Amino acid sequence: MPLTDTVHSALGTTDRPPRRLLVTGGAGFIGSNFVHYWCDRYPQDRLVVLDALTYAGNRNNLAGLEQQARIRFVHGNISDRPLLNRLLNTESIDTIAHFAAESHVDRSILEPDAFVQTNVVGTFTLLEAFRHHWQRRGQPAGDRFLHVSTDEVYGSLEPTDPPFTESTPYAPNSPYSASKAGGDHLVRAYHHTYHLPTLIGHSSNNYGPYHFPEKLIPLLCVNILLGKPLPIYGDGQQVRDWLHVSDHCSALDALIHRGQPGQTYNIGSNHEVKNIDLVYQICDLMNELAPTLSVAPCQQLITFVRDRPGHDRRYATDSNKLKTQVGWSPAYTLESGLRQTIQWYLDHPHWWIPLLSPTYQQYYAKLYGE
Ligand code: NAD
Ligand code: DAU
Repeated sequence: MPLTDTVHSALGTTDRPPRRLLVTGGAGFIGSNFVHYWCDRYPQDRLVVLDALTYAGNRNNLAGLEQQARIRFVHGNISDRPLLNRLLNTESIDTIAHFAAESHVDRSILEPDAFVQTNVVGTFTLLEAFRHHWQRRGQPAGDRFLHVSTDEVYGSLEPTDPPFTESTPYAPNSPYSASKAGGDHLVRAYHHTYHLPTLIGHSSNNYGPYHFPEKLIPLLCVNILLGKPLPIYGDGQQVRDWLHVSDHCSALDALIHRGQPGQTYNIGSNHEVKNIDLVYQICDLMNELAPTLSVAPCQQLITFVRDRPGHDRRYATDSNKLKTQVGWSPAYTLESGLRQTIQWYLDHPHWWIPLLSPTYQQYYAKLYGE
């Protein structure tokens, strides 16, 4: 008799044959958390991590894992078709978890080219390579192409609008979200036309360990620890729905194992909060967890700066489809997730200090005129 999911989870096993995954962007924030998550949970699986190591990619995110024989790191680009063909074939890949992307909205406003190249052309190249590989192998029904997308493709909500559902029309507002939408449409077309077993996850804002300190939450943590200003764009009344990265990983696990090919799923936590309230919450937690900080209370570092051009006002995601049809729920509350994350930044200065490059400082100054 097959063991139940709970027993398998406790044993770290499954009663399915081992999977062979290609994880693109696996040295980035969410991708590396996914690699850690998957290694803990499915020790019998093979993982090939393909990452171009842009400014956002960091092999230290995979420290302790790369030594394992079942993990292989490949430094390469998803737009390199011959490399993809070789990897898919020699590694007999049956599952793609596609995280690789340019992911920062502010950068997409300044320099959109790389966003179109990676998020649209790169996604297309990966789809084409996987389609041919899948067809050559006789179109196995259990293969999966999981595309990691964003709730930003739906655009911006008014304060009283209901949250985004999977049938909300696309209305991307930034070069970043438009390029993610372009990738999504290609994924959808590959299922419709070729029956490629694709899945799309539309996640809300993630936070947690290994988050590059250009995004709001890690930037706040690092700036507080450095005693630097906490920049709040515009009036700080924008709303985001924050999801701990490990809850995102468990949702992607559920999609690979129980999602319906060809379907799209929203992934959010129902933790809608205004930016300014989030900043105060982080300051309170930091004052509590690091009481000897010289800048305490760190609320005094809050600084309102020029708004992001085209800034989306509110995101909110309805994840009922994922919860009811696939069986997923988040484990973290916003409070417990922020506590865990802040403690991680307090404990890992050796991880984030090398990332504070002059280039990042230049980007910041150019966009906000500081
Ligand atoms: P990230 O910027 O931290 O990591 C992206 C990774 O992709 C990096 O390791 C980078 O080196 C790699 N990469 C970039 N271009 C590449 C290329 N051409 N070929 C190979 N590798 C390349 O991003 P993240 O925050 O971890 O986001 C991962 C995915 O999740 C993205 O697709 C993003 O759109 C999506 N997403 C992110 C969030 C969030 O809050 N961070 C929320 C929803 C969806
Ligand atoms: O919704 C999912 C998206 O969330 C992902 O698809 C993106 O990859 C990810 O970067 C994130 O996009 P946001 O633009 O929402 O995240 P960011 O952390 O850049 O900003 C969060 C909010 O905080 C947003 O309203 C802008 C604001 N902000 C951001 C920074 C970096 C500030 O007020 N000050 C800042 O310094």
